[in-house]
Amino acid sequence: MASKINVNGFFRDTSGLPRMEELRKSHLANAPADPDTDDFIRRLAERLHPKNMRFQVVSIIESSDYTRVYRLVPMDGHIPVFQCGQYMNLRLKIGNSVLTRPYTISSAPFEARGDNPFVEIAVHHKKGDFVPDYLFKKFKVGDTLDGSMPFGNFYWEPLRDSRNIVAIAGGSGITPFYSMAKEVASGRMKGCKLTILYGSAKSDDIMLKDELEQLSSTCWDIKIVHVLSDEPGWPGKRGLIGQEMIKRYSSKGCTYMFCGSFAMYGHVLNALSELEIPARRFRHAVIGSPSDVSILPGYPKEKSGKTFQITVVRGARQDSIHASAHETVAVALERAAIPIDTHCRNGECGFCRSQLVSGEIFVSPVGDGRREADKETGGFHPCSSWPLSDLKIKIPIM
Ligand code: FES
Repeated sequence: MASKINVNGFFRDTSGLPRMEELRKSHLANAPADPDTDDFIRRLAERLHPKNMRFQVVSIIESSDYTRVYRLVPMDGHIPVFQCGQYMNLRLKIGNSVLTRPYTISSAPFEARGDNPFVEIAVHHKKGDFVPDYLFKKFKVGDTLDGSMPFGNFYWEPLRDSRNIVAIAGGSGITPFYSMAKEVASGRMKGCKLTILYGSAKSDDIMLKDELEQLSSTCWDIKIVHVLSDEPGWPGKRGLIGQEMIKRYSSKGCTYMFCGSFAMYGHVLNALSELEIPARRFRHAVIGSPSDVSILPGYPKEKSGKTFQITVVRGARQDSIHASAHETVAVALERAAIPIDTHCRNGECGFCRSQLVSGEIFVSPVGDGRREADKETGGFHPCSSWPLSDLKIKIPIM
């Protein structure tokens, strides 16, 4: 049913607030005990953020020796609206463990509309990558997998950001910008110019190389600059993406967007601060913590190599597991086949929020999304916290 809002003027409208409160109270008092499953708002929320989706793999493209692009179509045909830079969360059962992993959607929003809608994720795999290894070995065309979408706050916003975008990417951090490049090339980000500075170690680490070159060769508004740090014979730009290079490709008032590793983030942040770029012009994706937590500032080095016991309370159930000082509490839970719902995996989204009953943790300085009240009452995020002693924690039941 369409609703109408009458604007009567500031004073009359604000004086109406007490009446609204009365109205709300009477609605609450007369509300049925059971939730209205046919409620419009509830249905809309479910369309925009479905809790569980089942996807079918409809194609797998070998983009390079180490990269595969999985094209996914939801079994019910509905793809919620998303923005370039947002991610989907895959839910995978590996052995006894249920793992959740975020993957940036590498296809463009316009490809999720029309007659043959789909989403894609680009997965990079090198030896020892646990989840990519599983995806590469396990999934074939026709298989199904579970997940949900969309999540994340890393996207270009026309009211806030400039139409001149300098994207700085490292490794698999190229995926949000690939999605954006497709959207620009399709003419849907009107007036936007996208320059991508893409850092990789070696040429065979470059993801979506041909696809990006295809886009930049057909669209004047897209420029891609490859920068390799570890290949002396590379004919293009070599070294790290620093102040000089960022300056060379910047334009007045441009917006900088970054997606890459923890180490690269520090480097880029320094370069931007040397260039005196105000924080409002810099946006970054979730920064993953380094694989070696001991390099994070403030980490007590004497804890390295230790093992601790974690008592895990889930409702009436209590388990005891072991955790190494070098793994997050979330990883220790997953290894012990105790399900924990994670999305961003770096303290930003709050999905894994749990309770620290006793013990001491180290919280990543780039992934500390705790509210002040959490800090006082023991709320913490297992995805961005490492044990520093034996712990007792309470986690939500999944
Ligand atoms: S998964 Fe997002 S805060 Fe832990």
